[in-house]
Amino acid sequence: MPQPILRTDRLLLVPLADRHLGLEIQLDSDPEVLRYICGRARSRDEVIASHAQRMALAGKVEALGYWVAFGSDGGARGSRPPASEDDGEFIGLMMLPPAHGPDQPDDPTVTDLGYRVVRRHWQKGLASEASRALLRHAFDTVGQSRVIAQTMAVNTGSRRVMESIGMRYVRTYVPRGDAPLPGADVEYEMTREMWEARRDAC
Ligand SMILES: CC(C)(COP(=O)(O)OP(=O)(O)OC[C@H]1O[C@@H](n2cnc3c(N)ncnc32)[C@H](O)[C@@H]1OP(=O)(O)O)[C@@H](O)C(=O)NCCC(=O)NCCS
Repeated sequence: MPQPILRTDRLLLVPLADRHLGLEIQLDSDPEVLRYICGRARSRDEVIASHAQRMALAGKVEALGYWVAFGSDGGARGSRPPASEDDGEFIGLMMLPPAHGPDQPDDPTVTDLGYRVVRRHWQKGLASEASRALLRHAFDTVGQSRVIAQTMAVNTGSRRVMESIGMRYVRTYVPRGDAPLPGADVEYEMTREMWEARRDAC
């Protein structure tokens, strides 16, 4: 099964492809967006390298990967998803690859949720809305056992998204990546049992 196009109330989520590289470069040119990720803007060459890594990781587990979010009317409350990406405005990059990296389990049934929203679209509920759609995709379509999300402990906005979509805090740890920013990271999770309990409660 290829990665599907997903829709939420306000967003069209399109599987990341090479034609989206310019949008990734635009997103990562804002140092505020990357403040808690690498602490500075990324160069074009760095984004080209991370795009290649994303495309490689996306193919590893069927239907998991990265999605580019597009909205209408700036993603305002009450707006509708655009009919196509050409009609839409770039909102951000949503991430749902298989777990990977030194601080994540080597388990293809575990998925790593992440998000990066263009700064002018922050605080409109868009990361939470897209994340809920990705949780549904991970559990109901792909059949994953667990979704985790990791961020710097001081990244309040990211933690609030995790909490608002129902994930639970798991641990605080010192990250082992290549050149981690100073400070601890936190991990949240949603297990299949948690997901099913939430769905049954609705
Ligand atoms: C983190 C980020 C994705 C949040 O996106 P967003 O679309 O603004 O998030 P939402 O609007 O869905 O907010 C969800 C909740 O978090 C709160 N929130 C969002 N940003 C916040 C911030 N900076 N400080 C405090 N609370 C914040 C919202 O008020 C909302 O709270 P509620 O559920 O009580 O209503 C966005 O700030 C971003 O792209 N940051 C840079 C990239 C990044 O750090 N990504 C995470 C790395 S792991």
